[in-house]
Amino acid sequence: MESLRGRDLLSIADLSQEEAQYVLALAAQMKIGEVAPHCPAVLGLLFQKASTRTRVSFTVAMYQLGGQVIDLNPQSTQVGRGEPLADTARVLDRYLDALAIRTYGQAELQLFADYARIPVINALTDREHPCQVLADLLTLQESFGGLGGLTLCYIGDGNNVAHSLLLGCALMGVNVRVASPAEFQPLPDIVEQARSLSRGATEVTVTTDPYSAAKGAHALYTDVWASMGQEAEAIARQPIFQPYQINDQLLAVADSQAIVLHCLPAHREEEITASVLEGPQSRVWEQAENRLHAQKALLASVLG
Ligand code: CP
Ligand code: NVA
Repeated sequence: MESLRGRDLLSIADLSQEEAQYVLALAAQMKIGEVAPHCPAVLGLLFQKASTRTRVSFTVAMYQLGGQVIDLNPQSTQVGRGEPLADTARVLDRYLDALAIRTYGQAELQLFADYARIPVINALTDREHPCQVLADLLTLQESFGGLGGLTLCYIGDGNNVAHSLLLGCALMGVNVRVASPAEFQPLPDIVEQARSLSRGATEVTVTTDPYSAAKGAHALYTDVWASMGQEAEAIARQPIFQPYQINDQLLAVADSQAIVLHCLPAHREEEITASVLEGPQSRVWEQAENRLHAQKALLASVLG
């Protein structure tokens, strides 16, 4: 396997299957304290959107590795006053060892990666959320003892989290089904990329029918109906997404051992009922904890 040192993670598909397996195995070892690499590096966090889990887990991961974090809030840097991103990227490159970016367009993230030589990590764009999916795969692996033969079913908006799940599951040999309203389906180029990553060996299904998608699945997964930046559409989206709620009725058609995942933050009684989120099949808190372990392993890998 090629070293991950110095590499960007803009998409979950930037990792090969072997590299993702390496990061997940390292995360599992770090979680039980078996491996504690020392990494005296500085990570910049440039976040254009709110964040609890990603911001705090990246920060704590760096501290635990022996490194530091600088919060590059756009409002307190020249980014918020319109300094070109290409200029910002070339300057930050000379101070920092890695940069995690949360922004809207994938093109902005790509621009940073093109201009900065240090590793650039996608901390969420409108297109993908690869760090989330590393933690999700770790949670699936822990819950079932491995990934082979599993089926994950995502119900809801076919955007960033759904995209990274499609790619990440296809990459790792997990069957993946996405059920979304017709006007909120995943991007066709992502579905095509997922099919190509799966090499026909695992299922990649996109449908409008939540019940057929959930049938026999080992994991049911959902996300908010209106993502950050779509707040004005929240009310109009509710009736469209209502049939896509994860509730006890939908959970009953999944595998009897199925786990329930949600990237969080959750809106109870919208995309998921409180009874399912707080119920015995929910693994959302373990999943949130795994953000720390997965990102710590990723940082240790790209920082060498
Ligand atoms: N799941 C996730 O990325 O959460 P935050 O928005 O709180 O970082
Ligand atoms: N789809 C959500 C995920 C938040 C972690 C958003 O983009 O707001």
